[in-house]
Amino acid sequence: MKRSNRAKTARFSTTLAIDDKARKLKATGVKLWGFGAGQPDFPTPEAISAAGIQAIKDGKTVYTSPQGTVELRRAICAKLERDNGLTYGPDEIVVSAGAKQALYMALAVLIDRGDEVLVPAPFWVSYPEMIQLLDGVPVILPTDESTGFKITPEQLAAAITPRTVAIILNTPSNPTGSVYERSELEALGRVLAERGLHLITDEIYERILYDGAVHVSPAAVSPNLREMTAVVNGVSKAFSMTGWRIGYLAAPRDWADPAVAMQSHLSGNPCSISQEATLCALTGDDATVRVMTETFARRRTRVLELLAQASKLRVVPPKGAFYVFPDFSAYYGLSLDGTGTAVSGSQGMAEFLLDTARVVLVPGDAFGSDRHLRISFACAETVIEEGLSSMIAVLARLR
Ligand SMILES: Cc1ncc(COP(=O)(O)O)c(C=O)c1O
Repeated sequence: MKRSNRAKTARFSTTLAIDDKARKLKATGVKLWGFGAGQPDFPTPEAISAAGIQAIKDGKTVYTSPQGTVELRRAICAKLERDNGLTYGPDEIVVSAGAKQALYMALAVLIDRGDEVLVPAPFWVSYPEMIQLLDGVPVILPTDESTGFKITPEQLAAAITPRTVAIILNTPSNPTGSVYERSELEALGRVLAERGLHLITDEIYERILYDGAVHVSPAAVSPNLREMTAVVNGVSKAFSMTGWRIGYLAAPRDWADPAVAMQSHLSGNPCSISQEATLCALTGDDATVRVMTETFARRRTRVLELLAQASKLRVVPPKGAFYVFPDFSAYYGLSLDGTGTAVSGSQGMAEFLLDTARVVLVPGDAFGSDRHLRISFACAETVIEEGLSSMIAVLARLR
């Protein structure tokens, strides 16, 4: 049977794979505490859902413009101006099936076979996969706790080759929760401008911030950068709308137009009903968003208090998003009560913790760091209390 090389190398998202394993265990009656979720555990705010229902009743169930409805694109422009200080026209906006598709389209417009795209690690799992699907080469820029998981201008400059076409920046970051500050973006922006590189920014977690952190859209730090950037965002995380599948990109016409052309042949257009719900989300009162982010902030505080009880964990408090990404490596090489098989690597640790503490964490190797595991606090407070206590008790038995 014929299978393309693309099909042979495509891998299932590992963050989904761990959920899958846990789901199967759960189905056998085992009680688990899940910290794998990549989505808010709140319902979509009622007014937004009502707008979706109304769209169905009003017959807004037919094709829209491949680019998204003009009403929604105008609302996105207003949002970018209001929240990010960015000026775009509706023709520079492409609405898509989630930020995921917007990222893929933004990359598809740039990459020819063999082109390199820089990806700071730890990275969101889909970036390298998307680049490879497009026959590009992901070039990983490792970061660690010493720079708060952020790349430096020197590191960026040193990684650029004649084949480099772009870099992806994710701020706030999944999985580390790092947030780039304006001065850091300005310094990176100078290198990008000098070297004529494109920038794709993933700002999907912009509303979820802690300890007074401020989100700065990288495209807003200089007019040069705006011309070289595709801003990607969406409503999945901020409005708890992951299943509605609406994201968007904002980019100059010569980047947005080919993305629309491709999308017109791929998905046709993003879901008409979801576009109406998104219009409501972006133009309505966002009190429920504030309640969600306050809840995340309280949970984060408790998660950090609990993790501090595990003496060998190294934790950088996240500035944004709803994940903590502790370094578990001081426990590698140890075994339960000093007997049996030693735990090794993030996959080994995730499996060990699933089997012994009944907690579901995502191994860091999926994000480009085998020393870490990701803990999502998009889960109930009882899960945090019971699950992390169970995990800490097991970690204390590793010798
Ligand atoms: C960093 C990052 N970007 C993009 C996405 C995809 O978002 P969407 O649901 O809008 O496709 C996710 C979802 O987990 C994410 O964590």
